Formats: sequence, structure tokens, C-alpha cells
Amino acid sequence: MKIITVIGARPQFIKAAAVSNIIRKEFEEILVHTGQHYDENMSKVFFDELNIPKPDYNMGIGSGNHGQQTGTMLIELEKIYLKEKPDLVLVYGDTNSTLAGALAASKLLIPVAHVEAGLRSFNMNMPEEQNRILTDHISSILFPPTETAVVNLKNEGIKNSVHNVGDVMFDAVLDFKELAKKKSNIVNELNLIENKYILTTIHRAENTNDINRLRNIIQALNESNKTIVLPLHPRTKKYIDSYGLSFNNNVKVIEPIGYLDMISLEMHAEKIVTDSGGVQKEAFFMKKPCITMRDETEWVETVQNGWNTIVGTDKEKILSAIMNFVPNREQENIFGDGKAGEKILKVIKEAIK
Ligand code: UD1
Ligand code: UDP
Repeated sequence: MKIITVIGARPQFIKAAAVSNIIRKEFEEILVHTGQHYDENMSKVFFDELNIPKPDYNMGIGSGNHGQQTGTMLIELEKIYLKEKPDLVLVYGDTNSTLAGALAASKLLIPVAHVEAGLRSFNMNMPEEQNRILTDHISSILFPPTETAVVNLKNEGIKNSVHNVGDVMFDAVLDFKELAKKKSNIVNELNLIENKYILTTIHRAENTNDINRLRNIIQALNESNKTIVLPLHPRTKKYIDSYGLSFNNNVKVIEPIGYLDMISLEMHAEKIVTDSGGVQKEAFFMKKPCITMRDETEWVETVQNGWNTIVGTDKEKILSAIMNFVPNREQENIFGDGKAGEKILKVIKEAIK
């Protein structure tokens, strides 16, 4: 039995780190890297650090407009599927690599398994929302990570072969936290004081592509009187440069970092300010207050639980949350038991049989 797993963007490498080696206990896995992310610190670093198997194919698609990027992936993936004849294609999340991986398989009548199914922001302007909905509707096996995601699928008529296995990113944090404690020295290297800095990430298209939203975010960080650490996504760097925006000295802008350094910075931060999906969850896993610079979130349970606050990109709201937001409740168990990878393997084994 052969499974092709398609990955291409940073968060997918981390998800595959939690799942690939488990799948390989029982199946032949062919790992396909679309090349959507390609800088060393957006791709290679994760394979090196996290013991992710070497991709069997690296398609080298690179950056581009949505149609061009997704379309090229479709053409190349179809060739690989026709050659390898997999029994199942596995995709993660909501990127263009996810959609291309699923669509190329579905057209060839190869069953698709979607990890992180059922997430919805109900904002169809997001490329990720389009990718998720389309992928869910052509998948044969769906792995929603939360009960809300199960309900979202049900509301769209998707009821069969839906398995809430928990969140593979929770598995990843549990798998790599101790290694991060041992290997990462980033807090010292950046001269940070534990629990006295804010960790920030920004990359969501709705924030980078709109100068007003990006300017508000940067002004809030500049005016916060806090030490801010910002591993800067290349997309955001490009827009900041083109808009001519700049940071004050309290904002330490660094290159994107590996996962071990990232979870180490999360572990020791006072608060986390982000527009990332994965980082919102990791803030929750690390029991850190999360301030989300978006107008909505797919991870609604983190908000309902009191650990995440949605502030959009209003400067005053961001500043006020940085100063004042503190969770006031014990965390509930939202994201499973950290054994999502094992459960995915079990379901796939049953399904393929
Ligand atoms: C993509 C996903 C997004 C996910 C994010 C994770 C889509 C539509 N978006 O967004 O859902 O949250 O990955 O990080 O799939 N770039 C580089 N080097 C790289 C990669 C990108 O310089 O290695 C720059 C290029 O200028 C590129 C831009 O970043 O045009 C955006 O990259 P792209 O992969 O299109 O989207 P992301 O913003 O990374
Ligand atoms: N991440 C990382 N280095 C960084 C920034 C993020 O390793 O410099 C990790 C982060 O810990 C999380 C994942 O990348 O596991 C989130 O990816 P991203 O924010 O790019 O995408 P999203 O989750 O929003 O799709």
C-alpha cells in the first residue's frame, strides 16, 4: 500500500514531522515537496532539525500568483501520481499545495485524506478559506482537529469518514519540546529576559497586502514600550520594504527561524501577538496569552477558553491587548491527547483495507 504525502509550506513540514514517521511504520510513503517554500530557513531547516524523511520529489515550483503556482503544481503532481499510482494522497492544512495535492488526486479518482479538515474563518476573501473548503469537499477521509471543525463539516453536508483525531501540531509540540529545551539557546543569543518580551509573527495576506493594516500593526509594535521579537516572514519583509515602513529599536526583527528556536521563544515569551494559525495554537499549548491580529479566527475554542483575543489591526486595540490582556480561566482540553498521528494511521489502515 502506497501513500503520497504532499507538503510545500512551512507549517506542513512541521505537521509532517509529527505524522510521516508514524505512517511509515505500516505504509510505503512517497513524500512530495512542491517547493512552495524554498528558502533554507523556510524549508531545509525543518527537515534537518525534525527528522522529516527526505522528500522523494522536490518539484521546485517556487513563488507566483495563485493560478500560476497552483496550476503548475497540478500539472506536475498529476505526472507523479500517474507514475507512482498511490492508494491514497495525504494533504495538510489550507495552502495552495494542499489544494493542488487534493485536486490532482481527486480528478484521477485517487482517495484524498485531509488533515486539519473543517476549519472555517467564514471569510471567503482568504485564499486559505477557498483552499480548505474545496479540499474538504473532494476528500474521502477527513481529519478535523476539533469538535467545531466536525460541526463545520456537518453543516456543509460532509458526514462520512470524518474523524476527530486531535491536532497534529499538538503532537509536534509534545514531540519536540524537550529537544528545543536542550538544543535552542535563542533566548540568550538575542539577550532576552524570560517572560519579558513579546513574540510576534505577521504574514497573513490580508495584513501584508493592505498598507493601512500593516502600518497599524507596525505602529502598535513600535509604540508598545515592550521588547518585541519578530521573526519576519519573507512575504512581510517584501511588503514592508515596498511600503517604506520601518521599526523602532524595541522591535528585534530577525530572519525566520527553525521550529526548535520558535517553540523555545514561545515557551519563554510574556505574550504572543500573531496572525498565524499555527502560532495561535502553539500559544495555547504553551499557556501563553495570545493576541490575534485578524478579524476572525478558525481556532474559536482558544478564544472561548479565554486564552486568545481577536483584535484585528486597530492600533489602539493591539496596544491595549499587549498591555492588558490576561487569560482568566483554566485551559480546557481542546486539541486532543497528542496522539493524532497514531490515530490517523489507524483510520487510514482501516479505510484502505
Ligand atoms: C503560504 C500559505 C499560507 C500559510 C503560509 C505559511 C497559500 C495561499 N498561503 O503563505 O496559508 O499560512 O504559507 O507560512 O498557500 N517567499 C520567499 N521565500 C520562500 C517562500 C516565500 O521569499 O521560501 C516570499 C515570496 O516573495 C512569495 C511570498 O513570500 O511570493 C509568499 O509566499 P507564498 O508561498 O505564496 O505564500 P505565503 O504568504 O508564504
Ligand atoms: N514557525 C517557525 N519559524 C518561524 C515562524 C513560525 O518555525 O520563524 C512555525 C510555528 O512555530 C508554527 C508554524 O511555523 O509551527 C506556523 O507557520 P506559519 O505561521 O508560517 O503558517 P500558518 O500556521 O499561519 O499557516
